[in-house]
Parts: sequence; structure tokens; C-alpha cells
Amino acid sequence: MKTILIADDDHAIRRTLELHLSESGYTVLTAADGHEAVAKAVGQDVDLMLLDLRMPGIDGFEVLRIIKERRPGLPVIMVTAYDDMHTAIEAIRLGAIDHLGKPADLDQLDEVIEKIIEMGTLSQRGVVFCDSSDPPFEQNVMVGRSRAMKDIYKTIGAVADSGATVLIQGESGTGKEMVARALHYNSQFRNRPFIAVACSALAPTILESELFGHEKGAFTGAYRTKPGKFELAQGGTLFLDEISEISPEIQVKLLRFLQEREFERVGGIETLKADVRIIAATNRNLSTMVANGGFRKDLYYRLKVVSIDLPPLRERKDDIIILVKFLLEKMRHEIGKSMDVVPQETMDLILAHTWPGNVRELENTLRRAVLLSPGNVLLPESLHLEAGKGSDRLALMIKPLHEIEREHIENILVFTGNEKKRAAEILGISRPTLDRRIREYGLER
Ligand SMILES: Nc1ncnc2c1ncn2[C@@H]1O[C@H](COP(=O)(O)OP(=O)(O)OP(=O)(O)O)[C@@H](O)[C@H]1O
Ligand SMILES: [Mg+2]
Repeated sequence: MKTILIADDDHAIRRTLELHLSESGYTVLTAADGHEAVAKAVGQDVDLMLLDLRMPGIDGFEVLRIIKERRPGLPVIMVTAYDDMHTAIEAIRLGAIDHLGKPADLDQLDEVIEKIIEMGTLSQRGVVFCDSSDPPFEQNVMVGRSRAMKDIYKTIGAVADSGATVLIQGESGTGKEMVARALHYNSQFRNRPFIAVACSALAPTILESELFGHEKGAFTGAYRTKPGKFELAQGGTLFLDEISEISPEIQVKLLRFLQEREFERVGGIETLKADVRIIAATNRNLSTMVANGGFRKDLYYRLKVVSIDLPPLRERKDDIIILVKFLLEKMRHEIGKSMDVVPQETMDLILAHTWPGNVRELENTLRRAVLLSPGNVLLPESLHLEAGKGSDRLALMIKPLHEIEREHIENILVFTGNEKKRAAEILGISRPTLDRRIREYGLER
């Protein structure tokens, strides 16, 4: 019979899990704080551990760290109320085998436990220990608690330290660059450079010398030798965004780098080496491009050692509410204006929209709406979204002209922070005319 150790400071949770798991035929041990958890995990014959994060004494991460040192083979499932990106990444990075949210979904828990016991995954994971000093990561935090996003956090946690090449695929605006940064800033290379290159932004020859550098005199205008991004990223991460757009020549050079870690500057004869992790991203379907001959197959396979596919927002609607909250908070910092009320109608419109531009479109729509909404209520019409049905849209539009004029002037005043001179300029009317309208429409504040 397998033995499961439950470490949680909450008596009720311990009790519920204990009952449930003993009914399923496991021997159950419990621990009410971190010290007890370590003592039992190390000193007793435990096959699996469920570990809470917040506990008196030493917290769950610390317990996990100690256990991974002293009983590295013991599979640990973190069960925490903090089922956000940081916790999920950190838990997996420190060697937890899975991470579940609280209150624990018992069916899901059974499934995970069975899987672990079945697979006999009592093997040690390749965990690298790092100091947990906070990386400059807060501004790059990703939110979303859908199954798909959690799986992505787990993958990030599992591969960050490895230095393996990663290919990130997903529609535009799904967060590919964020994942690339998360991989870097959660890895052992976080204090080394993270350099991003938008491959589609530059002409092929310029891109080549940007990436690999050039020697003095390599081409007209090359007045001196210049190191490329591969050299500048030494020890860190080079993020090649929109990798689908690189020319066949650069594909060959990149392939060689991935195979041999070698390259030459443009016009150079000396072979250089660089120790750089490559993360590539694309919003095009690379495998189709490979099939059509538009992208080298060998390079494709070298790039997708690990591949992360970001699902479009419309396929993870349960992330939308938390994203809206997060983005409004982000805008409060950015613009200094807070939205305290999001009416149900607004939320319904947001949920009904299909967001072809994904999180980026949601973010831009909210930013504009925050700027344009008077007061601190996020009005549905400020989103300027096509309402689901034509008739709804018509309802929004059936308005007398003066009402539209009033709203527009009001929006612009909000936008300029009630600065009338600028508002008049934007509206293309004289200052006295603006003053008159403000009086007429009662917009005086
Ligand atoms: N899960 C998320 N949580 C919070 N913000 C997000 C998330 N995903 C994306 N964003 C935000 O959406 C915007 C777009 O993200 P990002 O630039 O990473 O997308 P992308 O996939 O690289 O897009 P593109 O293909 O257009 O370059 C950014 O402002 C980012 O902050
Ligand atoms: Mg991008």
C-alpha cells in the first residue's frame, strides 16, 4: 500500500484530504507545519507528498527545497491557494512534480496521484537550485489560470534552466514574447543578457550583420568591425521573433550555429563561438512552411527541441476575467486612472468578442476605453466593440447628433485631463466655441 503525506497547516483541509485518500486505499500521514513535514518526509516511508505553500515555520517552497536535497526521489505535488504563474513556475522549477490550485479538485487530484503512482515516477528531476532573489520580472508577469496556461507555466518551469532551444508558436498577441522573457528570467541565466530581435523588421542583409556582426569593410558603410547579437547575448538568451521571416542564407547560418555553436561575422574569416540560448517565436505555421519548402526542415527540428504552443484567447475564455482585472490594474499604474466598476454589460461584450488580436487586442481596447471612459466606470460603448448582434449595434448607434457630439467632447476632455486648450486643438474648434459647448452640454467640472 502506498503512503501519502499531507502537509497543510489548515486542519479542515488535512482532514478532508485524509478521509478522501484513505477511502481510496492509501495510507495517509499528516503534518501541520513545515518542520513536521520535513521530518516525516525524510524520516518515514512516504511515496508521495501533498504540500501546502503557506505554513508557519518554514514555508512550502523551503520544505520542497530541503526535501529535494534530502530525498530527491520523493514526488511532491504542491497544492496551494496561490495558483498563479509565479507559484506554478517556482514549484515546478524547485522540483515539484505538479501544482494544483486550492480548493483541490478531488477528481483532478486522484487523476494526478494515480498517474504518478502508476508511472512510478520516483526518479529525481533535473533541478538546479538558484537563489530566489526576485528577478526584474514583475512587469512581465503573465496571468491566466486556464488549464492550457498552467501547462505552459509548468513547461517553463521544467525547461527554463536547461538552456534548451525553444520554439514558441501562437497567433499574434497571445504572449509569445512574454513566454520568452519568462523562460529567461526564471532561469539560471537571468543575470545574463536577454536580447530580442524582430527578424521581420530588417532587410535580410542587415539582419544578417545585426545577428552575426560584421568586419570592417565587409560592405559599403561598414567602417568598423561590429559584434552581432550572438556575441552580445553571450551567456544569455537570444530571442528571435518572427523566425519564419528569415532568409534561406540566414537559415543556413542559424542551423550551423545550433549544430556547432559556431559562426562568422559578415565578411569575416575567423570562426567565432558563442554560448547563447536560442528562443524563437512565430505566428505562422512553420510545419506548413516546411511542407511547402518555405523553411528548412532540419532547422525546424533544431528549433523545436522544446515547443510551446500558445492557444488563442478565444480558446481560453476562462482567462478573460482575470486578464481584464490584471490589465486594468496595469493601466492604473501606466495612466494613473483607475476603473472601479466594470458593469455586467461591459463584461458580456468582452466575453462575446472573439479577440482575433488576442491579449494584445484586449489590452489596447481596454487602454483606449480607460482613457475615454468618464469617471471610473468602464462603459460598454467605450470599448467600441461590434456588439454580437447587428440590432444591438444599431441600438448603440441610434442617437441624435448632439448626443454624439456631447459624448465626443466629454471623451476628449477626459483624454486631455480637462486641459481645454489641447481639447479644442484636437476637436478642431476654437477655444470660445469649446467653452460654449461645455456650458451647453453641462460638461463643466
Ligand atoms: N498571459 C498574459 N498575461 C498578461 N499580459 C499578457 C499575457 N499575454 C499577453 N499579454 C500582453 O499582451 C501583449 C502582447 O503580448 P506579446 O507581445 O508577448 O505577444 P506576442 O505573441 O509576442 O504578439 P505578436 O505576435 O503580435 O508579436 C503584451 O502587452 C503583453 O503584456
Ligand atoms: Mg511578439
